[in-house]
Amino acid sequence: MSKELTKTDIEACGSPLARVVELHDAVGSTQERARELARSGTPHGTLVISRTQLGGRGRRGRRWVSPPGGLWMSLVLRSELAVDLAPRITQVAALGVAKALWEIDVRALIKWPNDLLVDGRKICGILAESSAKRTRQKEHELDFAILGIGLNANFDPHDLEVPDHEVATLRSELGRDVDLLELLKIVLSSLDVELKRVGDFDAVLDDWRALNCTLGQRVRVQRFGETLEGVAADLTQDGALILKTRDGVVEILEGEIEHLRPGGF
Ligand code: BTN
Repeated sequence: MSKELTKTDIEACGSPLARVVELHDAVGSTQERARELARSGTPHGTLVISRTQLGGRGRRGRRWVSPPGGLWMSLVLRSELAVDLAPRITQVAALGVAKALWEIDVRALIKWPNDLLVDGRKICGILAESSAKRTRQKEHELDFAILGIGLNANFDPHDLEVPDHEVATLRSELGRDVDLLELLKIVLSSLDVELKRVGDFDAVLDDWRALNCTLGQRVRVQRFGETLEGVAADLTQDGALILKTRDGVVEILEGEIEHLRPGGF
């Protein structure tokens, strides 16, 4: 059995991303709770974490099953980032968590935009949501971003209500449970390093390219009610996916992609 997380232990990590810590046994969604706190002015570096979530949420409003043993958390981030650069947060965070997983010998790769996969099975989902404000110069600046991370850790894939071959957990990959506090420390420290590089996206992109499993793949994308197919060629400076289709090059800022088997268009 791994040790239970406590607020005191988390605070003692001294992470700049966890200056304010709210730890729950159970909560609807850490994402919603973090947003409430952000709206009422909580500072950068507020961490909301819960042993379980009763209404965990994935992208596109999907349900996110969150049993005990996972790392379910949301961070409140504030920065002077221009709001149009906010999509970078997803890529920077994906890179930070991927690097943290490699530190514990889990070979996670990033599937654009926000999934971490091990041998094609999802081990972590990332949900970055931002809120803008207008500055005195009437420019749009980021007010806050809520960075949600759901990392499957100390439970078995069949504890989630999806087919086993689609998901991985740290237990299934390492054959043992991990200390959640140690895991949290590694994740926060890696995220802190990567988030500081959000303004230097070229450097981030080099690392992202080395740790992704999307580029070079044939993919199918659903967007605005249409389906596009092509080869994932690269990322832009905004973190958008450059897709080479039969009809030309398209930039996908956000969307759901499916990796297809190799072959012609
Ligand atoms: C996805 O892959 O669709 C993103 C999943 C994000 C899940 C995390 S778990 C912590 C935080 N709270 C939520 O309700 N969602 C995010």
